[in-house]
Amino acid sequence: HPTNFQMEESSSLRPANCRSKGAGPGFKVAILGAAGGIGQPLSMLMKMNPLVSVLHLYDVVNTLGVMADISHMDTGAVVRGFLGQQQLENALTGMDLVIIPAGVPRKPGMTRDDLFNINAGIVKTLCEGIAKYCPKAIVNLISNPVNSTVPIAAEVFRKSGTYDPRRLLGVTMLDVVRANTFVAEVLNIDPREVNVPVIGGHAGVTILPLLSQVKPPSTFTREETEYLTTRIQNGGTEVVEAKAGAGSATLSMAYAAVKFAEACLRGLSGDAGVIECAFVDSQVTELPFFATKVRLGRNGVEEIFPLGPLNEYERAGLEKAKEELAASIQKGVAFIRK
Ligand code: NAD
Ligand code: LMR
Repeated sequence: HPTNFQMEESSSLRPANCRSKGAGPGFKVAILGAAGGIGQPLSMLMKMNPLVSVLHLYDVVNTLGVMADISHMDTGAVVRGFLGQQQLENALTGMDLVIIPAGVPRKPGMTRDDLFNINAGIVKTLCEGIAKYCPKAIVNLISNPVNSTVPIAAEVFRKSGTYDPRRLLGVTMLDVVRANTFVAEVLNIDPREVNVPVIGGHAGVTILPLLSQVKPPSTFTREETEYLTTRIQNGGTEVVEAKAGAGSATLSMAYAAVKFAEACLRGLSGDAGVIECAFVDSQVTELPFFATKVRLGRNGVEEIFPLGPLNEYERAGLEKAKEELAASIQKGVAFIRK
């Protein structure tokens, strides 16, 4: 194998006269942190997505193996692997969408904010690369703490003069996926029929499910509301504890990340009415970033929806969420401005 690889499928094994496959129509997607717990199943699912024509897998370890493995799947996307900082430029150049699950996950007893010290620097470096090599790409940021890493990314882009708030999205889709699942269990219906808006941010009390706005329209007792809200807010911790030191949610996260990336790609391709929740630069509250329903289009976030009518329980939750969110956002901004 080449040592400084930038392999395209099993290129070194191909006969010299083998016709090389050009990328078909579709989007170019890079995954940064592709060899990790989320990165591997996410890479596999994106290789299966018909909207993707080129898939770049980047990590600081093990990309070669993941790329070789995934490249054997007989789906349309052309896969290329990139290892280490010196290959970040080639990993990012020409990309339409960059998905970032790079960074350390929680262990039992930790909060997402405990990951700040390591992950803030990782996100900063990767976003500096995006600003330089694919400033027009849509960015889906998964690395925790999302409430701080999105403001970090925004500050990096702002500093480099490339910031387009429509193109930076913190991924909170897993909260929606969990909310749909847990609400469907309570209502005893198919989760595919349920849609729960989850607003605020992505940590503890900042995760605010709006059960009063559930589709199909449903009512919940106070006990059900408290059970569901707590379960949704603690979904991540539930998995961290069950994995007992081996990491946090990876498989449900890869599923949620693909669901969200697909919505972004559908928006880019001009599909109308693509609406999902995401943590974005926003003016729906006094905070500079907030998760709400957004409409995705050719430029990323085309419209940010207002919170809609909240009941008393949700209004109280919103106040708590905003307090914690303000501090997490400020911490991210200060990390770059310091
Ligand atoms: P993991 O440790 O299994 O994988 C992380 C990967 O990132 C590793 O392969 C590592 O080599 C890579 N990496 C580290 N530094 C890098 C760099 N500078 N450039 C590129 N890659 C780098 O962790 P995981 O379970 O995949 O979780 C990744 C992150 O996602 C964590 O921060 C976790 O908290 C977060 N997460 C977020 C959500 C969400 O809903 N937004 C859900 C689950 C996990
Ligand atoms: C999750 O919600 O599963 C992720 O944010 C990972 C975590 O640390 O809980």
